[in-house]
Amino acid sequence: MSDKYAVIGNPIAHSKSPWIHAEFARACRQEIEYTRIEAPLDGFAAAVAAFRAAGAKGLNVTVPFKEAAYQLCDRLSDRARAAGVVNTLSFGSETRGDNTDGIGLVRDLANQGVSLEKKRVLLMGAGGAAQGVAGALLAAGVARLVIANRTAEKALALAARFPSAAGCGYQALGAEAFDIVVNATSAGLSGESADLPPGPLRPGVLAYDMVYGQETAFLAAARRAGARVCDGLGMLVEQAAESFHVWRGVRPDTRPVLARLRMAANGSAA
Ligand code: ATR
Repeated sequence: MSDKYAVIGNPIAHSKSPWIHAEFARACRQEIEYTRIEAPLDGFAAAVAAFRAAGAKGLNVTVPFKEAAYQLCDRLSDRARAAGVVNTLSFGSETRGDNTDGIGLVRDLANQGVSLEKKRVLLMGAGGAAQGVAGALLAAGVARLVIANRTAEKALALAARFPSAAGCGYQALGAEAFDIVVNATSAGLSGESADLPPGPLRPGVLAYDMVYGQETAFLAAARRAGARVCDGLGMLVEQAAESFHVWRGVRPDTRPVLARLRMAANGSAA
């Protein structure tokens, strides 16, 4: 019988993770079954317990359950502890939590020839998505990390967890220049207008939106400002590959999988 995995979230219908993991499993000759679970907003822990009781080996966790996943782990990896949020659960005699989002972002940038070393990075947002990547950006050797958020207190609280990060509200950003601006807010998801500052978006800047599959207001503004733009599709594939490695001990080649997703996003068949 195949080992069972799933991605759990709410909503979850449009998740590409089952397709990505099926591709990885085929390429790596691994026998797995990977499905989607939509947990009720007040029923995450129960849904995890039921899946585990059915013999499952692991879960990817997505919005809005990454903090709840952190809470139910018996053991945490260093990067999950640093993030305070978990996107990968492994079930053995205990429940182990990991976070592969940060390394997913760093690897996607590296694949595109972008090194974070000595770069000045602005991370916008202070929710679960920003928490997941802040530690990895610092570990990748950035010269400066500023975490800015609409609600300044949340940015200050997140930055305070890392000795070398600064936190502020958008108004306090002033005219400081950055090499890379990462949008980790959920502003692009609901289609609502985003209260994101346009100032840091300039020619020469890499504007990276962790959202994928749509032209967010952030990416549109970055394009207008002459910045180089990048969506989060590569990060999605890289975080999945790292989860696959955590579970199966083998590292899939992400390039063909990302290429097919890009083709599908551009209108050709995947
Ligand atoms: P996620 O897990 O996707 O990070 P979250 O924890 O709810 O979701 O965090 C959402 C983030 O997007 C927050 O940083 C939020 O800013 P506030 O803390 O000020 O709420 C940000 N966000 C959501 N909608 C936004 C908008 N329209 N403009 C600017 N920031 C927004």
